[in-house]
Amino acid sequence: GRGHALGHKVYEFESTPPIPFETDKVVTPEGFTWKPLVKWGDPIIAGAPEFDFDNQTAAAQEKQFGYNCDYVGLVRHGRSGRGLLVVNNEYTNDELMFRGFTGYSSMTKEQIKIAMAAHGMSVVEVARKGREWEAKMGARKNRRITPNTEFAITGAAAGSKLLRTKADPTGRRVYGTFANCAGGTTPWGTVLSGEENFNGYFKTASAPAGQEAAYKRYGITGSKGRNWDSVDPRFDTSMEPNEVNRFGYVVEIDPTDPTSTPRKHTALGRLKHEGANVQIARNGHVVAYTGDDERYDYLYKFVSKRKYREGDRRHNMTLLEEGDLYVAKFTGDGQQDGVCDGTGTWLPLVVGGKSKIAGMSVEEVLVWTRLAADRAGATKMDRPEDVEPSPVTGKVYVALTNNSKRTAAEVDEANPRPSNKHGQVLELVEDRGDHTGTTFTWKLVLICGDPEDPTTYFDGFDKSEVSPISCPDNVAFDSEGNLWISTDGNALGNADAFFMMPLDGADAGHLKQFHTVPHGAESAGPLIVDDKTVFCAVQHPGEVDGASPSAPASLFPYDGTGQPRPSVIQVFRDKAGKPGKQGRPGK
Ligand code: FEO
Ligand code: CA
Ligand code: CA
Ligand code: CA
Repeated sequence: GRGHALGHKVYEFESTPPIPFETDKVVTPEGFTWKPLVKWGDPIIAGAPEFDFDNQTAAAQEKQFGYNCDYVGLVRHGRSGRGLLVVNNEYTNDELMFRGFTGYSSMTKEQIKIAMAAHGMSVVEVARKGREWEAKMGARKNRRITPNTEFAITGAAAGSKLLRTKADPTGRRVYGTFANCAGGTTPWGTVLSGEENFNGYFKTASAPAGQEAAYKRYGITGSKGRNWDSVDPRFDTSMEPNEVNRFGYVVEIDPTDPTSTPRKHTALGRLKHEGANVQIARNGHVVAYTGDDERYDYLYKFVSKRKYREGDRRHNMTLLEEGDLYVAKFTGDGQQDGVCDGTGTWLPLVVGGKSKIAGMSVEEVLVWTRLAADRAGATKMDRPEDVEPSPVTGKVYVALTNNSKRTAAEVDEANPRPSNKHGQVLELVEDRGDHTGTTFTWKLVLICGDPEDPTTYFDGFDKSEVSPISCPDNVAFDSEGNLWISTDGNALGNADAFFMMPLDGADAGHLKQFHTVPHGAESAGPLIVDDKTVFCAVQHPGEVDGASPSAPASLFPYDGTGQPRPSVIQVFRDKAGKPGKQGRPGK
């Protein structure tokens, strides 16, 4: 039976109280415990040296688990209880990695190469042993993907003039991925990963002729970068003005083949992709939902040209290479009904291989997608982060983290608060359940903050019984369709945390806090595994003002190295069959 299940049944855990931000602990609900699964520097590739903070090298880091884990995917593989863990390593905290760090310009070339190699993605074979999961060091399918890994560019913008560089006159091959934030696991067993804040990696004095508007819209002008250009000149836009156009995509990795060439899909547009999640529509086309994480940016969806074929993995792996691209417009029906809700339209950007934006070619729409969406008249959102369809209902959930800059004149029913510090979660229901359609209804199921704040809303549930929540970022689901939400940047002064909220029945809106993460950390990449285990990426532990390796604010995961190490952890019941305080006994 489901004796160890987390809940509806899941629901039986007792919420943890708000934990002060400075607390350097993982706090789990009563009856649960946690353990690291894989840590920054773990020697995942055969032959890699053990982690050695004071003697780190780029060659070692190329074979070790990367820094600042974010998205966590699990592709099942072989016998049950085995899988391939695929993790984004979004960025590095160089101030916590290198003694004597006083700024990017103070770094040695070797340190810059170490930081670069700590970016990208990590693939690790994992297996369940009893109630716990184990990462297999040196396993055959383990892989590091870094800014030096070769990618293929797919879709209508592949080969475009905008993507050609001196090193790649074809505009079809590019080295690396970085700033990989959230992601998704596809029905065909690959992993999607969103290239988010790529602009911050390029040194830019001024925009090249003809690209001024695009550079400005993507925040590239005036950037100092991370001094990566001192080891690789393509990170200086004055040397290579188109290199930056080759980042900002959804990338697809086949973790089952460590020799495969990962791909960047231009058909899903270029933006600060938080991640992407795929839904197979009833008519067989596949739909990918993706958010652009910036204040006032947009929600997008892609609809594949070809149809999904059950069991034909080779074919399905091509589905994200060609299709239509839309951006969302939300219309409120008025707040007199006491609910933030309304109707919406998917505005076309590219349909049937043709640009729907006057004055822009298909290639321009796919490379300068933000400019196209501006012209289409999309709704400016409060930072669209993770977007994921419920595997139970097909309804789509969008985490909107915050937007402290929104003014009273700029509020609308989907983004209803000025100076929005705490964010909201939007539920989108495609009309007639057709994910390929162009109209939908929507409502805010969660308006975050302290429940005593009258502007908050917990799907109509009694607010005296819910946990405070701030800055929803990543979402996940258990098999019963309960929504799980992780936070980034709690503006109530509490530790970031992981929450569960039922979406239907009498408990709908009963948000409960599950575990919290240590000082300075973000609770990222959550995954509910078999309704029994929570995988969570503890990202940037110790990231606070003035942090340094000699005075770290966090020692997570408390392994005696004296340094914080971003790690994927697992949270599970602390004894087989033993219920939590509010738990349901196993059967
Ligand atoms: Fe990398 Fe939008 O968080
Ligand atoms: Ca994020
Ligand atoms: Ca309304
Ligand atoms: Ca996210």
